[in-house]
This record gives sequence, C-alpha cells and structure tokens, in this order.
Amino acid sequence: SNPSLLILPGDGIGQEVMAEVRRVIDWFGAKRDIHFDVSEDLVGGAAYDKHGTPLHDDTMAKAQEVDAVLLGAVGGPAYDDLDFSVKPERGLLRLRKEMDLFANLRPAQCFDALADFSSLKKELVAGLDIMIVRELTSGVYFGEPRGIHMEDNMRVGINTQRYTEAEIERGARAAFDMAMKRSKKLCSMEKANVMESGILWRDVVTEVHADYPEVELSHMYADNGAMQLVRAPKQFDVIYTDNLFGDILSDCAAMLTGSLGMLPSASLGAPMANGRPKAMYEPVHGSAPDITGQGKANPIACILSFAMALRYSFDQGDEAARIEAAIEKVLADGVRTGDLLGDEDTVGVSTSGMTDAILAALDAS
Ligand code: NAI
Ligand code: MG
Repeated sequence: SNPSLLILPGDGIGQEVMAEVRRVIDWFGAKRDIHFDVSEDLVGGAAYDKHGTPLHDDTMAKAQEVDAVLLGAVGGPAYDDLDFSVKPERGLLRLRKEMDLFANLRPAQCFDALADFSSLKKELVAGLDIMIVRELTSGVYFGEPRGIHMEDNMRVGINTQRYTEAEIERGARAAFDMAMKRSKKLCSMEKANVMESGILWRDVVTEVHADYPEVELSHMYADNGAMQLVRAPKQFDVIYTDNLFGDILSDCAAMLTGSLGMLPSASLGAPMANGRPKAMYEPVHGSAPDITGQGKANPIACILSFAMALRYSFDQGDEAARIEAAIEKVLADGVRTGDLLGDEDTVGVSTSGMTDAILAALDAS
C-alpha cells in the first residue's frame, strides 16, 4: 500500500500554502507515479472552532499512525484571547510532545538567486547549505523546578536546564546520521565552560562519535557558534545543539537565507515498526494574518517541507532534490511572491502563480 500522509493545514495562510502542496503531491502521482494515501484534518483555531479543542483526540491518534504529518500553521487574532489550555499552539505542542519528536531539523539553505536578500554579504551566503539539529523535547524549557517564587520578599523566576545522557544521546545519533548523509562534518555546540549540562553534552556526543568514526566532529561554545554563523557560516555543515541554544541559533541561521516564506523544518522521533521515524514537517512561518486571504503567501516553505518529507520519511532524496532544483530554477527566472521583492508596493506572482511556475519547472525536469 502507499505511504500515508496526514495533512493539517491549520489556520490563516497555513490553509493557503497547504492547498499548493496538495498540487505538488498530485503532480508526483500523475507524473512520477509516486502515490500517497492523503488524509486531512483540523488543528489549531480551525479545530477549536469545530471541537472546542485545538487538537481532537481522533486527530492525535491518526497522527500517531501515519507515516508522516504535514502541518501548515496555527493561530491568529481571533484566538488571541482564548484560555491558554485551548490556544491554537497547544495543538502543535501536543503533537510534538505525544509523538516524542526530539530532533528538530532546521536547514538554512541559500538559493543563489536570493543571495542578495540575506542579512549578510552575498559572498558569505551564496551556496550556503547547513543543517541545524536542535534537541526539542528537553532542556531548560521543560526542566523542573520551575516557576516564580517569593524569596526574601522578592520574586524569583526559576527555570532548570536538565539533560539526561539518554536525551543527549538520541539527538546526537540523529545528528550523526544526518552528517553521514551529508558531508560527514558535525559541530556540537554547548557551553561546557560554564554549564554542567554542557560538560555532559560534550562527553556524551564524544562517546556517540565512536560509532561514527567517518564523521569529523568538532565542539564549539554556543556563543562563539553564534558569532561564527554570522562571520563565516559556510564553515558548518551539520550543527547539533540543545533546545534553548538551538532555538536562537536556528533563527539566526534562518535570516542568513532571506525570507521566512522560504524556510522548511522537520521534527523527527524514534523509528516506528516500519523503520520510518515518527515525523512532522512544517514551514517555520506562522499563519500570517496580515496577508491571509489575499493570495500573497509564499508557498515555498511548505513545499520545501514536503520535500524534506520525501527525503527523510520516504527515502526519495532524488525527488526532493528535483523539487529543490525546480524552485532554484523559478527563482533564477525571477519569479517572486511579494515577500521576495522587498518592496511592499511590488506585487509579483500570487500564491498559486508561484506553484504554477514550480510545476512547470518540474514538468521540464
Ligand atoms: P508569521 O510568521 O505568521 O508572520 C511574520 C511576517 O512574515 C508577517 O508579515 C507575514 O506576512 C510574513 N510571512 C510569514 N510567512 C509568509 C509566507 N509564507 N509568505 C509571505 N509572507 C510571510 O508570524 P507572526 O505574525 O508573529 O504570527 C502570526 C500568527 O501565527 C500568531 O498567531 C502566531 O502565534 C502564529 N505562529 C504560528 C506558528 C506555527 O504554527 N508554527 C509559528 C509562528 C507564529
Ligand atoms: Mg523560535
């Protein structure tokens, strides 16, 4: 039977860009004989409107069964005043938590035609292609004790950075596996100079390295890592880092490449019975209420997220590269959605116009 995909468009432009991804999925069925059993369901505000919860239990159960989940974006002004327990992002967090998606993959890839768009000089980013693997389920965002307490008549805010060696190890294996599929270079980032968890992090990553002798491993303090990402980003291939540092470093790396509308991501968990990892793919951007319903959303981040699914869930790396090459081609031809024009008054192509161009480039590939 065909591999299964659960599509959760969510809210705002999530729905608009996901409609474009479905056209790309249909193209693969019609032109490449690659088929998926696609089902679609609600998440976020859309699920709240129908069920009074941002993720229905049936949807959660379905997500656990399929080979991969593809999510658009959640949230929007209509839901800003909801109680925290039913906010749209809770749907997203529940998916990540119950699927135990511990390895967050954030590529920072600079398409040549957009090198001018980077926050950095063109020569520093042209051809840039790095992958940040961020530990996603532990660390200071989850560690106990936490809270705001009174001490000596003063409020004290407390969070705890806590990592077990098992948590560091499973993320490290995902990062080394990634390095093996790329240029066999891994840089691990922590602050072993001032943090106990950093010392353990460095130890465990070094131990796991013994199983991956072909990979060239280096260690870097995360603050230096931030500096190096901006000074000379092309020195890196795969970076492995914790939840907090990864949050910051991946946003920093993202801006090396240009628009939010271009950035895909993947979150992977443990292998399922069929050997595929539990997986959810989603663009980095949100639901963009400012442009919702206007045909202005750039669908590329979501289409690239589907390409990551082809590569990391379905062993179709060549087909993922086919999508990336088609996108490179349309960008080189000057096809631009508004976000890639840098001028609010210039319109460019619509959401579906961008997909038209990508499908035409796929046809020609
Ligand atoms: P956002 O990513 O939705 O938008 C930031 C800016 O980038 C806006 O000006 C938007 O128009 C633009 N933009 C984003 N994606 C674009 C695309 N594909 N094409 C063209 N332009 C694009 O972030 P914002 O405005 O902070 O949040 C809006 C809503 O989205 C909030 O409710 C927030 O909670 C939610 N959100 C959801 C996320 C998710 O579902 N993973 C992630 C971030 C925010
Ligand atoms: Mg962030």
